[in-house]
Amino acid sequence: MKSTTHFGFREVPSGDKQRLVGGVFDAVASRYDLMNDVLSGGMHRLWKAAMVDWLRPRAGLQLIDVAGGTGDIAQRVLNRVQGQADITVCDINVSMLNEGRKRASSAPIHWLAGDAERLPCPGQTFDAYTIAFGIRNVTHIDAALCEAYRVLKPGGRFMCLEFSAVDLPGLDTLYDLYSFKLMPLLGGVIGGNREAYQYLAESIRQFPDQRKFSAMIADAGFSQVTYRNQSAGIAAIHSGWRI
Ligand SMILES: C[S@@+](CC[C@H](N)C(=O)[O-])C[C@H]1O[C@@H](n2cnc3c(N)ncnc32)[C@H](O)[C@@H]1O
Repeated sequence: MKSTTHFGFREVPSGDKQRLVGGVFDAVASRYDLMNDVLSGGMHRLWKAAMVDWLRPRAGLQLIDVAGGTGDIAQRVLNRVQGQADITVCDINVSMLNEGRKRASSAPIHWLAGDAERLPCPGQTFDAYTIAFGIRNVTHIDAALCEAYRVLKPGGRFMCLEFSAVDLPGLDTLYDLYSFKLMPLLGGVIGGNREAYQYLAESIRQFPDQRKFSAMIADAGFSQVTYRNQSAGIAAIHSGWRI
């Protein structure tokens, strides 16, 4: 494995990335949900709804939502099946999990501290694995995808919502301006941490585009890998199946 990796636009020793990412999410945890709404103009809600629509959860589903943070995806899935699902939210950052616990104290969610690259779960446990805006923060994306494959039952579904490559000429320039000028500014003023939001903008640009990421998912063993762009590719939802 490579000995260095990127942390935003900085090249850092691979062993340091998780600690640096941890610092970002410790810093933003208490305002994370508010900032999601402010920075995306509420769009993240539509993108998450689109992922849950595509997943089509049914009652009794066993789902792991990795890098699940404050449990937003878990809550949406539970709402869709009137609470009739067995949901584990796994995140490496305890501050994010604690915010989620506070927010959804009565929801039937298992909150699990763990690394997407080494999930603390036995193989073939879940019907579905979701990860939203999480995988770009992981140091070894290929290792996280292999773990997703491992914990899914045969016939299980992998779904990932992540920022992606904008495919509309003109919008990409505007989006760059927004990401690198306005987002860190708002992150500083409202979120209280400009650097954290600078990292978030940079990490989006480092993430593989729709096609490259599809190939990585297929390399991890998944079949029928497809994706749907959201808002002209600002985000994309990838889907694959463990056969
Ligand atoms: C942008 S937040 C997304 C939270 C939530 N999924 C959502 O969509 O609102 C990214 C999350 O990834 C988590 N994360 C980063 N690296 C991780 C890893 N290696 N394993 C598990 N979680 C990780 C962070 O702690 C953070 O909670």
